Amino acid sequence: MNTIQACIFDLDGVIVDTAVYHYKAWKRLANELGFDITEHQNEQLKGVSRMASLDLILGWGGLTKTQTEKEELATRKNAWYVDMINKMTPAEILPGAKEFVELCTQAGIKTALGSASKNSVTILKRVGIDHLFDVVIDGNKVSKAKPDPEVFLKGAQELGVAPQNCVVFEDAIAGVEAAINGGMHSVGIGLPDILGKADMVVSGLDQMNLEKLKELGALNPLKGELALGQNRSK
Ligand code: BG6
Ligand code: MG
Repeated sequence: MNTIQACIFDLDGVIVDTAVYHYKAWKRLANELGFDITEHQNEQLKGVSRMASLDLILGWGGLTKTQTEKEELATRKNAWYVDMINKMTPAEILPGAKEFVELCTQAGIKTALGSASKNSVTILKRVGIDHLFDVVIDGNKVSKAKPDPEVFLKGAQELGVAPQNCVVFEDAIAGVEAAINGGMHSVGIGLPDILGKADMVVSGLDQMNLEKLKELGALNPLKGELALGQNRSK
């Protein structure tokens, strides 16, 4: 039986609800470019890096841009996004998130943040929880986007914990897949219909406890090898 020695948390949609700010900023950009994006399309942007999100959005609008133009557009979107996150308060921490990370620490379980966002540290500081995590791996420290497991494997490595003893908490399909690809346990934060690949799905970290971590520890996270095997055979 494996035991859980580390919990690795995605940021957007797991610790704080910043998806609405990403959506507002991308919508504004799309509108300036002459089209609109829907909430349904926004779902597909969750967990996806800034440049990959821009590529998807330009595709939806039927637009082609040069690399230089894309960098300018991404910078413009990020400036609006940063304006919004700079106004965030601790009230925007999702229910139970702070308490569960603290509970892990008290129980001797190491904690890491594993996020695609290059704004992670700004957000953690704004909402006053930058001291909470043993390790922070964000979009500035990785080059491969989820579902590649790089962000979580780096977190595990910096914590000194083997992947099979880690649990990843994710609200995005690509994030759950990244955990599986890294040979880690996963808890989906959201709806079972969407995150069914995860070992367990809960509506929020307020539904997590040490008992559930124990249950996860009893599972064998072999799915990672299977998932990688499937990728390799493609
Ligand atoms: C992820 C979000 O956490 O970070 C994505 O789910 C976002 O929507 C990505 O695009 C990158 O964020 P940032 O802050 O670096 O633009
Ligand atoms: Mg997320």
